[in-house]
Amino acid sequence: MQIPISGSQQPMTIQHARLRDGEEPVDIFINQGTIAGIAPAMAPQGLVLDAEGGRVTPPLVDPHIHLDAVLTEGFPAPNRSGTLLEGIQRWSERKPYLTQADVIKRAEEAIRWHVGQGVLAIRTHVDICDPDLTALKALIEVREHIKDWVTLQIVAFPQDGIYCFPDGPELLEESLRLGADVVGGIPHYEWTREDGIRDVELVFRLAQQYGKGIDIHCDETDDDHSRFLETVANLTRQSTLAGRVAASHTTALGSYSDVYAFKIVRMLAQAHVHIVANPLDNIVLQGRFDTYPKRRGMTRVKELLQAGVTVAAGHDSIIDPWYPLGSASQLFVASMLAHIGQLTGSEELPWVWDSITTAAARVMGLPNYGIAEGQPANIVVFEEPSTVDLIRVLPRPRWVLSRGMIVAASHAPKTQVWWNGKAQSVTFRRTSDAAMPPGL
Ligand code: FE2
Repeated sequence: MQIPISGSQQPMTIQHARLRDGEEPVDIFINQGTIAGIAPAMAPQGLVLDAEGGRVTPPLVDPHIHLDAVLTEGFPAPNRSGTLLEGIQRWSERKPYLTQADVIKRAEEAIRWHVGQGVLAIRTHVDICDPDLTALKALIEVREHIKDWVTLQIVAFPQDGIYCFPDGPELLEESLRLGADVVGGIPHYEWTREDGIRDVELVFRLAQQYGKGIDIHCDETDDDHSRFLETVANLTRQSTLAGRVAASHTTALGSYSDVYAFKIVRMLAQAHVHIVANPLDNIVLQGRFDTYPKRRGMTRVKELLQAGVTVAAGHDSIIDPWYPLGSASQLFVASMLAHIGQLTGSEELPWVWDSITTAAARVMGLPNYGIAEGQPANIVVFEEPSTVDLIRVLPRPRWVLSRGMIVAASHAPKTQVWWNGKAQSVTFRRTSDAAMPPGL
């Protein structure tokens, strides 16, 4: 059934919505943008959306992307080597061409892709190594423009370093004054270890001074001597910011000795530091100095999860100098996380789902997250019946609701294959008894 996108709140009932894997579907009644009732077989009221037993979830969350850089790959020159360092070089060549209109146009296009994929909360890092802070001002405008249906958080991110870039500390502080939500850092990129520590210390000082959260690009390198995560954990322990501090990428943790990694993972758990892995970029950017075997270039997700650390997963890039692919699909991010992290165990795949939903919402500190009576009607309706199927098939949602408004709809093409002399439909669904031998 083709339901028009109205962009306005109206009473509606989502029928046959499966809210948890393996449980029977229920109906959801929505009124004035709020979930007014959840029960089996309710009398339908208002507009009716039939989920037909598909999985119905809270919005997907992208806790780490660089919206100022999206859709820029290729101009003024492409990243020929595909490496992290050439990516930074190409981005520095693109930056002089940035205008507010250019950033707004590209960022809003990428956000529309997110919404179409069921993502309604996004944390973007924005490069503030720019005396004019052009991209930051543009993204503050975007945040205001979309605030009624998408939550956008902005991290002031010193891409070229705080202490190895002219006026780095002043630009970081000015970004907070202008309205950035979160303080970022990049200690491993500073010229010396001492400046790396000062980088982290300044981030914590400014976060406390301006009442902001923290999200630091930390140890995004294969160098096992890059050890700023310990400083992040230690300063979090000494501060009042526990639960509001995230360390992103942290790929060096994948290269530390097992002994040192054990110590760090325990510190992160005790200090309540969140980790954001970015498996798409890091599987292609890391390990570039290795011959064979090549490192996977991802932080120790399994061990962090086993220790009770919140681990979320971000898209990081969409068609930018670091990663020329991507379509804002957080399901694809989850799939990559499952593969690289070897998280395919039956009790591990739910962690993977959490990494793009509840864990990512925790990193962003989102209030009112989840489907329950009295909550805002932020709901995504998929055709597939379970979260494992979502990560396996990577579909687009049928409908995306933000505060009771239908803000996206997809009409998936039906697939047929020629089989035994006739066309046969393929749904990519498993039958319920697929794991059982015939006859049982
Ligand atoms: Fe990043």
